[in-house]
Amino acid sequence: MSPSAGGQELVSLAMPVADEALARRLTERMVRVEEALAGHVQSRARFVTDAASHLMSAGGKRFRPMLVLLAAEAGAHPEADEVITAACVVELTHLASLYHDDVMDEAALRRGAESANARWDNHVAILTGDFLFSKSSELTAELGADAVRIQAQTFTRLVEGQIQETVQPGPGEDPLAHYLDVVAGKTGSLIATSARYGARFGGTDREVEEALTAYGDIVGTAFQLSDDILDIASDSDESGKTPGTDLREGVPTLPVLMARVSARPEDARLLELLDSDLSDDSLHAEALALLRAHPAMDDARDYVVARAQEAKALLTALPPGPVREALETFADHVAHRST
Ligand code: FPP
Ligand code: MG
Repeated sequence: MSPSAGGQELVSLAMPVADEALARRLTERMVRVEEALAGHVQSRARFVTDAASHLMSAGGKRFRPMLVLLAAEAGAHPEADEVITAACVVELTHLASLYHDDVMDEAALRRGAESANARWDNHVAILTGDFLFSKSSELTAELGADAVRIQAQTFTRLVEGQIQETVQPGPGEDPLAHYLDVVAGKTGSLIATSARYGARFGGTDREVEEALTAYGDIVGTAFQLSDDILDIASDSDESGKTPGTDLREGVPTLPVLMARVSARPEDARLLELLDSDLSDDSLHAEALALLRAHPAMDDARDYVVARAQEAKALLTALPPGPVREALETFADHVAHRST
């Protein structure tokens, strides 16, 4: 997604939308979102503006604002200004979390560009994340008290998901269940709120808002699980990030957890590597290669596709038509980006 200088040709949607009239409306509104976002990253401190603009203009799928705009289309007034504001809120919150996440992961690449911590340093990256989060909170206040409460609860879930990722599953706790809980928190929460904000400010009834929120939670979880699969399966040209980061950090994501559950006698070396320190480049490369060839990769992909189906089933709360179809495509797109 390129920042817009006012021209629609500079904005492309996060996924194909079959209905031309719907695609045109979404593109027009995404142009407004991009213009507003470019304004929201301006700080009084030049270095923060530079660092905040850096990842904003480096690209990104703009998945969350796209879902706000799309969910709003299920309501009576999808063109409302609040819908655009809500789309900015979720993207700024997401972007803030990326600056902090890259510090925690010591990541070098983000959105195909140098991460802020690599290009500047950890202090700049953390302050920029704080700044973007405060901007997002200021904007949320424009949406009223309920929106502030929803945003606060969402952020608690998001941060707690991230905290839980650093904590081992408790005794007797299933590691896969623990991990799915982490993912629902750190990614499902904000994508659920994207759908909720879109529905609410676009003017759907309560039943549709609840269905879209539940849909967003599952699609968001599937999105993060796809990301985990891509972290192992893809090269950096495709993902815009350094492959195998989770593995190097010792974060056991879906493919690793599934490989452990379905380990065969010939997987002894992989299990040994998974239990060791993978900061060494050659051990890391060996583990990555063994994992890429393991049947657990397909098990993980099948799981993500099944979650997308579950999300799509919730869309029966909406009348059939182009908006429902686009939301179905959105769920499929999330699931199949890792297949
Ligand atoms: C990506 O995980 C990380 C998140 C979705 C959330 C991280 C949240 C925080 C660090 C808290 C943010 C706090 C403030 C105040 C802004 P990942 O590392 O698995 O994904 P990646 O592959 O995209 O890096
Ligand atoms: Mg990360």
